[in-house]
Amino acid sequence: MNPDLEKLQPYPFEKLNALKSGVTPPDIGHIALSIGEPKHATPALIGAALQEGLEPGLASYPLTRGMPELRTAICDWLARRFKLPTDSLDPERHVLPVNGTREALFAFAQAVIDRSRPARVVLPNPFYQIYEGAALLAGAEPHFLPCTVGHGYLPDFDAVDPDVWDTCQLLYLCSPGNPTGAVMPQASLQRVIELADRHDFVIAADECYSEIYLDEASPPVGLLQAAAAMGNSDYRRCVVFHSLSKRSNAPGLRSGFVAGDEAILAGFLRYRTYHGCAMPLQHQQASVAAWRDETHVRDNRRQYREKFEAVLDILGGCLDVRLPDAGFYLWPRTPLDDETFTRELFAAQNVTVLPGSYLSREVDRFNPGAGHVRMALVASRDECIDAARRIRQFVENL
Ligand SMILES: Cc1ncc(COP(=O)(O)O)c(C=O)c1O
Repeated sequence: MNPDLEKLQPYPFEKLNALKSGVTPPDIGHIALSIGEPKHATPALIGAALQEGLEPGLASYPLTRGMPELRTAICDWLARRFKLPTDSLDPERHVLPVNGTREALFAFAQAVIDRSRPARVVLPNPFYQIYEGAALLAGAEPHFLPCTVGHGYLPDFDAVDPDVWDTCQLLYLCSPGNPTGAVMPQASLQRVIELADRHDFVIAADECYSEIYLDEASPPVGLLQAAAAMGNSDYRRCVVFHSLSKRSNAPGLRSGFVAGDEAILAGFLRYRTYHGCAMPLQHQQASVAAWRDETHVRDNRRQYREKFEAVLDILGGCLDVRLPDAGFYLWPRTPLDDETFTRELFAAQNVTVLPGSYLSREVDRFNPGAGHVRMALVASRDECIDAARRIRQFVENL
């Protein structure tokens, strides 16, 4: 077997199961705030288009580069959403469908990393664990950038040693961030693009939470938008990752896309052709319907907004917790260490949260996820409110 497999860490949920094992919670109904799986209803238009696409979808091999209609729908959406210059995105060259961003974020490193020279992959800490596994299996060394409360839970790019940038081949960004909910401002994205130009690396911006934001008037800025605003409208070195899983409550559709630098996408298409990960035609058709509709996305945001308001009303004053810039997670600081808090909360109130230290790595004796827990407000409003009341009671009894 490939010895690099031994370097892969257990997934956070394996650690969580081990932490909870042997604990018997009270019989009051379990509420899981631990998993970031959207639970709002999938819009009917997605199911209808999927059904319609079965014929001839099931009887045809799809192309890896996807149907032109899907690539066009994606380019139209990107241009609209991020106010990109007209015609700066060509559906033939700048976009590829992927089966959810998870597989694409992993595969991307395999296609990008040049193993013939020293390779670092730079990533935020805490982070979505796929970035680290992708780096390790591509033969690269992960280099973590702490995202601390003191820096708005965002990486401080100017604190990174230039030697690190010199061997960096790929930088993962996550904005809006999982788990912190922090959104990178345009100026930071542009700073990163300057660094990428100077030190010759590729930026992979995971923007899969970009459509879950609180203020309808100020959606999170994206990497392509930041690039275009500084005159880089061929998106050199920039690739963004988007998904229907969170935007459209369709995690089972496994549908997303990558877009950006055409030379990088050409190489990625070559990789994907061999990997054999074309999206089934009926999923492509359902995706066209989803990218072309914003009504359900606005309604989705309204539901999250209502939940944040209700839950923070209950938790405010008892936990050190703030409204995130975007996304559907709360990232409170815990009055006990995060593992003890999680286990004791489960034991006392049958509510599961995820310890922050399971989403991060200790570097130089500092773990930026420690002392936090992640709470995903994915369940119904009533269930989220019930969970918040139980958490409040738990904290007040400490
Ligand atoms: C930060 C982040 N990126 C990517 C993904 C993968 O999403 P999908 O593969 O459903 O697009 C997730 C899922 O939870 C995530 O939290």
